[in-house]
Amino acid sequence: MIRKAVIPAAGYGTRFLPITKALPKELLPIIDRPTIEFIVNEAIESGITDILLIVSSNKNAIIDYFDYNLELETILLSKNKKEEYGIIRNIATGANIHYIRQKEQLGLGHAVLQAEAFISNEPFVVLLGDDMYVGDPKPVTKQLIDVYEQVKTSVLGTIEVPKKETSRYGICIPKGEKKGAVTELAGVIEKPKVEEAPSRSAIGGRYVLTPTIFKYLRDQQRGVGNEIQLTDAILRMMSEEKVYACDMTGKRYDVGNKVDYIEAILDFGLRNPEIKEDLANMLKKKN
Ligand code: UTP
Repeated sequence: MIRKAVIPAAGYGTRFLPITKALPKELLPIIDRPTIEFIVNEAIESGITDILLIVSSNKNAIIDYFDYNLELETILLSKNKKEEYGIIRNIATGANIHYIRQKEQLGLGHAVLQAEAFISNEPFVVLLGDDMYVGDPKPVTKQLIDVYEQVKTSVLGTIEVPKKETSRYGICIPKGEKKGAVTELAGVIEKPKVEEAPSRSAIGGRYVLTPTIFKYLRDQQRGVGNEIQLTDAILRMMSEEKVYACDMTGKRYDVGNKVDYIEAILDFGLRNPEIKEDLANMLKKKN
């Protein structure tokens, strides 16, 4: 049973400067809810009961978002705004949310290492907030957990990317011929040069990892971008344990990318009963 999730949210968010100077990237809204709430909900819908958010010193607004705001609640109740009260009271109620600060932003691998004491000795999932999914037929994290239940070892969630984009991702090297959605891996490489990319199968921001990863993260040297890379530690772990890749199915939004972020807002808006008609009409007029 996988019960615990880690969501690293301590990065600088440089691609969204200047807004990320004052607002954590994870709180950029999809209309009226922040992207990180969708990630937390995906974990909850996948059966996770305890979530550790890795934050940094300027991300206190994330902690406030998932906390109660008794002053605001009192005001809403005094004005008889029961619906609004319910909305703010019922954010991510399905799991316990825990926090730890990553004191220095040394990379994703270092961020995940901060979870060692929280995870202890059980398998866990990692969800990155830049990748939002509407999983089909089930949440992508649940897809990976289901594969874990069969293979009982680490499973990386993968997506197929165009060759020219391979240099932005951790890229998988399948062991032998790739057959079907689940493949044993021979290796992984972080952000290879396009001409050196061993495949187009990229790690898409979702991982099931065994606690063995911590042994390798503890002494992981800096890699690409002078950062401590999770991918490099996973590669070293492969000398001890099998690692699988699983192609995830559903719609993906790379919300670290501005156009994909806007697409996410439009798609969620077009599904929102309150605004879908007006939004569709507005979009028609733009064509
Ligand atoms: P990214 O490098 O994609 O995110 O890290 P970033 O630094 O926030 O954004 P850009 O690229 O500068 O715009 C992938 C994930 O790892 C987390 C980030 O928060 C993001 O979720 N991360 C990265 C950490 O938590 N700590 C780090 O030291 C680095």
